[in-house]
Amino acid sequence: MRIGTEREMRGFYIYLILLLYISLILSSASTSTSTNGYNDLQFSGVKCDEDFRVVALNVSFAPLFGTISPEIGLLNKLVNLGIVSVNLTGRIPTEMRNLTSLKIFNVSNNAFSGSFPGEILTVMTQLEILDAYNNNLTGLLPSEVANLKNLKHLSLGGNYFTGEIPEKYSDIQSLEYLGLNANGLTGKIPGFLGRLKNLKRLLLGYFNVFHGGIPPEFGSLTQLEILDMASCNLTGEIPESLGNLKYLHQLLLHQNSLTGRIPSQLSGLVSLKTLDLSINELTGEIPERFSALQNITLINLFQNKLHGSIPSYVSDFPHLEVLQLWGNSFTVGLPENLGRNGKLCRLDVSSNRLTGLIPLHLCKGGALEDLILMRNFFFGPLPEELGNCKSLFNIRVTKNQLNGTIPAGIFNLPSLSFVELDYNFFSGELPPQMSGASIDQLKISNNLISGEILPAIRNLRSLQVLELEMNKLSGEIPAEIFEIKVLSKINSSSSHGHRAAYIVQL
Ligand SMILES: *[C@@H]1O[C@H](CO)[C@@H](O)[C@H](O)[C@H]1NC(C)=O
Ligand SMILES: *[C@@H]1O[C@H](CO)[C@@H](O)[C@H](O)[C@H]1NC(C)=O
Ligand SMILES: *[C@@H]1O[C@H](CO)[C@@H](O)[C@H](O)[C@H]1NC(C)=O
Ligand SMILES: *[C@@H]1O[C@H](CO)[C@@H](O)[C@H](O)[C@H]1NC(C)=O
Ligand SMILES: *[C@@H]1O[C@H](CO)[C@@H](O)[C@H](O)[C@H]1NC(C)=O
Ligand SMILES: *[C@@H]1O[C@H](CO)[C@@H](O)[C@H](O)[C@H]1NC(C)=O
Ligand SMILES: *[C@@H]1O[C@H](CO)[C@@H](O)[C@H](O)[C@H]1NC(C)=O
Ligand SMILES: *[C@@H]1O[C@H](CO)[C@@H](O)[C@H](O)[C@H]1NC(C)=O
Ligand SMILES: *[C@@H]1O[C@H](CO)[C@@H](O)[C@H](O)[C@H]1NC(C)=O
Repeated sequence: MRIGTEREMRGFYIYLILLLYISLILSSASTSTSTNGYNDLQFSGVKCDEDFRVVALNVSFAPLFGTISPEIGLLNKLVNLGIVSVNLTGRIPTEMRNLTSLKIFNVSNNAFSGSFPGEILTVMTQLEILDAYNNNLTGLLPSEVANLKNLKHLSLGGNYFTGEIPEKYSDIQSLEYLGLNANGLTGKIPGFLGRLKNLKRLLLGYFNVFHGGIPPEFGSLTQLEILDMASCNLTGEIPESLGNLKYLHQLLLHQNSLTGRIPSQLSGLVSLKTLDLSINELTGEIPERFSALQNITLINLFQNKLHGSIPSYVSDFPHLEVLQLWGNSFTVGLPENLGRNGKLCRLDVSSNRLTGLIPLHLCKGGALEDLILMRNFFFGPLPEELGNCKSLFNIRVTKNQLNGTIPAGIFNLPSLSFVELDYNFFSGELPPQMSGASIDQLKISNNLISGEILPAIRNLRSLQVLELEMNKLSGEIPAEIFEIKVLSKINSSSSHGHRAAYIVQL
């Protein structure tokens, strides 16, 4: 630090005194490793005005515990208060009603408990940010919030608030962020929130248990970018009006009890990147008009009652990374060009009634990590290209009608951990080269594999489970296999009676 004029020196000493003073304000707060006193405290931000009154106090990520003492009320010029992730407990002191200049009030990620003292808000007319995310607050949501005419960000999520969302919240016209997620809220989701015309993010999901469905009025939140209403007991249909939200990037409605069809009007969500409607009771087909969702990166529709084909336009989405459609009744096959966008990372279409060939270029961009096609009626070979897919972590194609030889490259991939090819019609021999040191489970039982198990199997150093039973293998299990230290199960019983059965539980 450059030590300059007398005035600056004076400022510096006052700053030091303030540090001490604030340590006392956070009275019982002390370091968890108390050996070196307050040395660990990171008062990264104490700012004063020209009269050396504290206008900003930022204590974040310091290893404190204890409560805020009522003397905080003395810092009545405070504009910016951040006490974040410091594990403070107790109540938020009502003396804070003195902090009439406050614009930023951020006490997220602590363990404050009791009800939120709504009365402190009645005088904080300048407040722009109120962030009390992830504390232990209980009781009703503070209705006084509704009087804050400058409030842009209200985050009361991650607490134990109960009761209904106050109707008055629709008066906070300045609001851009409303997070009431992960509480114990009940009642109907109020349609009047549709009046918050400046809202960009609305988070209401998780642990809340609402009665009824998604209010159609939410279709008038035309600035909305994120709508998260996952896992909060929603019933009824998805309103067609949501299709008006042309700036929406994330629509998260998973884990509810939504019924009816997916409205084709949602094709109006032209900015959409993430669509998660999984774990509901949706019926019908994927709408033809969804081809308009050109910016989509993730589509989760798993565990619904959808049917029909997987539209071929899905393979033309230039940014698609994740497609999870498992647990429906989709028929026909996978689009031939799936993966040609070079971005596909996770494909899970298990437990449908899909048939046809596995598309050839799923790993074209070298991004594919999870290929999960179990319990369908796919036939033909596993594409040779998968043997070069270095990103592959998980390949599970159990219970299909696949045939031909297993691409030898599969046994040499650097990241591959789970290989489940069992219950198919694969034939040919196991390759003489195997170097896949990450393979944890190798399940090839119930196929038509012939030949011997070769000593190279010892290179699969991470192998824990090896299932080769019900094939046409011959010869002995090579002794080298016992060099694999973590192996806990081998089953290579023969179905054909040509050889001794090997069932080893190590
Ligand atoms: C408060 O301090 C933390 C950690 O030192 C920092 O990450 C954060 O940006 C600061 N916040 C403000 C508003 O200055
Ligand atoms: C707060 O408490 C949690 C859980 O006890 C701990 O993991 C975390 O490190 C603590 N944070 C600080 C800043 O001490
Ligand atoms: C509020 O601030 C005034 C100084 O402006 C101070 O005298 C008073 O004690 C404060 N009240 C509380 C409850 O801290
Ligand atoms: C509150 O502070 C934390 C930590 O600095 C920050 O991550 C968070 O974005 C802040 N909240 C708001 C609304 O700015
Ligand atoms: C916060 O609430 C959780 C869950 O009820 C509880 O386990 C935890 O002990 C509480 N923490 C404090 C500091 O009250
Ligand atoms: C969940 O929603 C259904 C249908 O609206 C309702 O009958 C049920 O009471 C709700 N559950 C709770 C705990 O409110
Ligand atoms: C799609 O994404 C690109 C890049 O992120 C962006 O420039 C473009 O505006 C987006 N299109 C729409 C309709 O949101
Ligand atoms: C694989 O099965 C198809 C019919 O499903 C058959 O035409 C083809 O000859 C089989 N290939 C091998 C190598 O068995
Ligand atoms: C090994 O495979 C055979 C044939 O499928 C089966 O009957 C047996 O239960 C399996 N043994 C073990 C230990 O999994």
